[in-house]
Amino acid sequence: MKRYHLTTFGCQMNEHDSERMKGMLESLGYGEAAERSEADLILFNTCSIRETADSRFIAHLGEAKRLKGENPERVIGVGGCWAQSLKDEVFERFPFVDVAFGPGQVHKLAEFLTSDSLTAQGYFEFEGFTGHLPARRERPFQGWLQISVGCNCACSYCIVPSTRGREVSRRLQELVGEVETMAAEGVREVTLLGQNVNSYGRDLRERASFAELLRLLDGIEGIDRIRYTSPHPKDMREDVIRAHAELESVCEHIHLPLQSGSSRILKAMRRTYDRARYMDRVALIREHVPDAALSTDIIVGFPGETEADFAETLEVVAEVGYDSAFTFIFSPRRGTEAAEITEGVVPHPVKVERMERLVELVQRGARERAQRFVGRTVEVLVEGASRTDPERQRGRTRHNKVVNFAGLAQPGEMADVEIMKATSQTLLGEERLLARAVS
Ligand code: SAH
Ligand code: SF4
Ligand code: F3S
Repeated sequence: MKRYHLTTFGCQMNEHDSERMKGMLESLGYGEAAERSEADLILFNTCSIRETADSRFIAHLGEAKRLKGENPERVIGVGGCWAQSLKDEVFERFPFVDVAFGPGQVHKLAEFLTSDSLTAQGYFEFEGFTGHLPARRERPFQGWLQISVGCNCACSYCIVPSTRGREVSRRLQELVGEVETMAAEGVREVTLLGQNVNSYGRDLRERASFAELLRLLDGIEGIDRIRYTSPHPKDMREDVIRAHAELESVCEHIHLPLQSGSSRILKAMRRTYDRARYMDRVALIREHVPDAALSTDIIVGFPGETEADFAETLEVVAEVGYDSAFTFIFSPRRGTEAAEITEGVVPHPVKVERMERLVELVQRGARERAQRFVGRTVEVLVEGASRTDPERQRGRTRHNKVVNFAGLAQPGEMADVEIMKATSQTLLGEERLLARAVS
């Protein structure tokens, strides 16, 4: 039996594509190799969102080159956003690569593997969603649902529109059908994926809205939890926010990317909302779902960001009260508008210093926010053993908090866990076998 080894970088979309790649490879008769050195087919699913993503991957590619040198029969394949952003240049710069393909083009990998072609092949067309591959899920009870591909926004720092193309939504009924199948296969929690999930459906001939999609999916028997990532603040309408309050399976967690608290910088980022509009969305969320957990993405050191702009970001973070935040140092990306800005470039040490202050504030806020769970009994979907203590189980709450707990519940089961302690990142608790979840 031939064996493959796949390494995944980047966001949940890549994780999802990798599950589809694994499903496809297994249907072609490939088995998974534990080590890269044992594989006939070495694959990478790449990301290019920041420079660090590129360099991490290049280090791995070096090992693939060495292994190919040892055995030229080995096939090296590179998929995802990095491959797309370099296209055919990949083969010039890395001649040992046999096949390269853009995000979502998993079926092209199958085409390559089943053809007699020995020459380097690249597949970089944008085709919308090329679905219906059996995913090999990391956990049988959690599934991804790609609701749209691509992005029509023009955020000036972002490489994604050029690597994933224009936004194309998948048809409503097709999505409902896919989740029905997932539910029949034992999936209890589904995460909807898109670069801008709440603009879903506007490009469809039979127009549909994101809130409508949530409502239909909520009606599917067996699906206990629905999550999604990422919504765009500009498209965060009241109907979506209300869905969190009204639909039982839609979780009490919203990831609402801020990027910056300064309206001036948001404008330069071409985010198309300002600080006031963002805060207005937060107020609406607090009104309808008072206990919702909010998380966000923030970039520090965008060109032109002054100390006063950064202070506004800190203010917004303090005002919103995030349960968690992903913080990034601005990284100029090839082909993007922001990479061309030469004025007001923030020196690296200043970026690092701002980042440290931001992380400190985020963590303090998250720790304080997390205390509200202490003493509550919460519903936890068990994912497996705790990473730090194999005696304990690990899972997630509806608020997307990681919980480590002592108890009997097995992966895929819901446990009622009483929370004893909370840090900024995780909750600690004990399973209550006779309790009824109250949150
Ligand atoms: N479509 C999603 C996610 C995009 S990528 C969204 O709009 O929310 C995830 C995060 O990476 C972004 O939210 C942004 O905070 C960060 N990011 C994107 N490009 C970046 C860059 N050039 N430098 C630093 N961070 C970046
Ligand atoms: Fe990038 Fe902006 Fe699209 Fe998100 S919404 S993928 S940040 S261009
Ligand atoms: Fe990376 Fe592409 Fe996702 S650049 S973050 S893998 S959309």
